[in-house]
Amino acid sequence: MNLNTRYLGLDLRTPLVAGASPFSEKNEHLQQMAEAGISAVVFHSLFEEQIRREMKTHEHPFLRGAEICQEALSYFPGPDEFAVWPARYLRNLRRAKETLRIPVIGSLNGATFGGWTSYARSLEQAGADALELNLYSIPTDPGLTAQEIEADYLTILASVKAQVKIPVSVKLSPYFTNLMHFAKRLVDEGADGLVLFNRFYQPDIDLESFEVNPSIHLSASSDIRLPMRWVALLSGRISASLAASSGIHTGIDALKLVLAGADVTMLCSALLTRGIPQIRVIEHEMCDWLDAHGYETLAPLRGLLSQRNCPDPSAFERAQYMRAIAIERVFEPRT
Ligand SMILES: Cc1cc2nc3c(=O)[nH]c(=O)nc-3n(C[C@H](O)[C@H](O)[C@H](O)COP(=O)(O)O)c2cc1C
Repeated sequence: MNLNTRYLGLDLRTPLVAGASPFSEKNEHLQQMAEAGISAVVFHSLFEEQIRREMKTHEHPFLRGAEICQEALSYFPGPDEFAVWPARYLRNLRRAKETLRIPVIGSLNGATFGGWTSYARSLEQAGADALELNLYSIPTDPGLTAQEIEADYLTILASVKAQVKIPVSVKLSPYFTNLMHFAKRLVDEGADGLVLFNRFYQPDIDLESFEVNPSIHLSASSDIRLPMRWVALLSGRISASLAASSGIHTGIDALKLVLAGADVTMLCSALLTRGIPQIRVIEHEMCDWLDAHGYETLAPLRGLLSQRNCPDPSAFERAQYMRAIAIERVFEPRT
């Protein structure tokens, strides 16, 4: 069975990509994912805050003026001896590139414009085949307009694009007033792909301790509906690759997203809950379905049920919501 796909200009064996997760922190896990058949890996993110901290470290008073005397530099701890996440990140990325035969996508995560975006070039130099730029913040300033926030995001993207030659995708949250418009602006600004969507820590309230705990709520298959709708709406309307992220746990989930128009489907919660062997299970489920339905490749299915191609385009729009309720009678009072 041929599951080949193309994402960010990379030819991939299957659409199953490891999304950014702690699994990329250890080379051993990267190897296991490659052996289980993952077609590419997105590294966990290097965060703006981590880079800013390192940049501050380099501005340590000891180091000021050291550049005028090369010998003086040898008395100071090297960058690796500081508590520097970025240096370790780059080292791990370089090692992954040396040992894996699949593409490795670096990930930068931030939300304000600044010098940290220069790390895009460091990731490229470390061997990243592409970059994923995760743009997210929780704006809490009521004086800040959506337009200003989006303008900042576009500036960050432009700055990253200016530093690298490798393709850059943008990972988004679903919380935009007009996602279609913003997606188009990102692509106009040079985004080679969009990753829909990020999931976040959501705070919960503990009634016993009266504490607010930010906790991870891993996804379930039903969560694919959000990316599925937006992939379907964007497919064929923007000239960028589309990655679906959120809720992909089975081969059926992955196939639905390919039908909606996804070039790749990213796995995270599925690997955290079911383990790395789930990659092979998902691939087998996809092959079994294709075989049972008389397909030899994924190509004819990609985007077949995007909004542009599906028999009922309004099915992906909100107007349909009322009809769905009416049909299912979910609100019928129980007696
Ligand atoms: C423990 C954990 C760590 C994550 N780390 C990152 C990260 O470093 N960068 C990033 O862009 N997304 C990160 N994510 C988000 C995932 O890549 C993914 O987009 C999200 O979990 C939705 O996919 P899923 O439903 O398969 O979990 C993380 C998610 C989890 C659960």
